[in-house]
Amino acid sequence: MKLTIFAATGGIGRQLLEQAVAAGHDVTAVVRNPQSLPSTPACVVVIADLAAAAPGALQSAVSGAEAVLSALGARTKADAGVAWKGTKAITEAMQASGVRRIVVVSAAPIGTVPSPSRPHPPKDDPGDGFFMRHLANPVVKAALREHYADLARMEEVLGDSDLDWTVVRPPRLTDKPVTGTYRTAYGQNVRRGVFVSRADVAHYMLRALDQPETFRRTVGIAN
Ligand SMILES: NC(=O)c1ccc[n+]([C@@H]2O[C@H](COP(=O)([O-])OP(=O)(O)OC[C@H]3O[C@@H](n4cnc5c(N)ncnc54)[C@H](OP(=O)(O)O)[C@@H]3O)[C@@H](O)[C@H]2O)c1
Repeated sequence: MKLTIFAATGGIGRQLLEQAVAAGHDVTAVVRNPQSLPSTPACVVVIADLAAAAPGALQSAVSGAEAVLSALGARTKADAGVAWKGTKAITEAMQASGVRRIVVVSAAPIGTVPSPSRPHPPKDDPGDGFFMRHLANPVVKAALREHYADLARMEEVLGDSDLDWTVVRPPRLTDKPVTGTYRTAYGQNVRRGVFVSRADVAHYMLRALDQPETFRRTVGIAN
């Protein structure tokens, strides 16, 4: 397939790039810093800062793509906002270019995080057990408040679009190698799912590309 991968220099983004090229896809990588790209992949590189992408700047990067993948996320608390702003710019470029399919990374707690058009989300995710609900989530949500608000708003941007989006919500990420063996759940987190590798998240994102049953859905993933 002809794919455009945003944030191809991040932990999941590098995995997306390597796995997509290895699988024979024709890849355009969009990055803000091409020096951070791994040396191997044969791909077209487009440079863009997604915190302030000029209108129309991303159109050439997505034009002709069959699908878009994004592993965009704030590196620091001060960068929070980049996920929703960048994703808005990406979706506008897709709409202007007639590209419909996008798969993005969010995070497991986001189903319970408020956003401007969903100020009162469910208190708990149906996939979360006692440990996640009462111990892990309150601590993590307080520590990553700005990141999670950004990701919740990013999900809202996609939900408000008419695109064929899929939002993948992993729990704690690891750098273990790809296994292709993981559990997924539509519309909720995976029961007792605490970890998943960046490599397996990328594996699933590529696998989901041509699965219509994942369109306009959130998907929990975990080992
Ligand atoms: N850490 C966890 O355990 C965990 C768990 C669940 C979900 N998540 C979420 O999963 C997502 C991906 O995780 P990850 O580990 O792959 O993240 P990461 O390694 O921090 O990668 C973030 C990517 O976003 C890019 N980026 C940030 N600001 C940008 C900007 N202004 N313009 C263009 N690109 C920009 C970075 O580019 P540069 O390389 O140039 O900085 C990098 O490619 C994040 O949203 C994260 O919050 C993380």
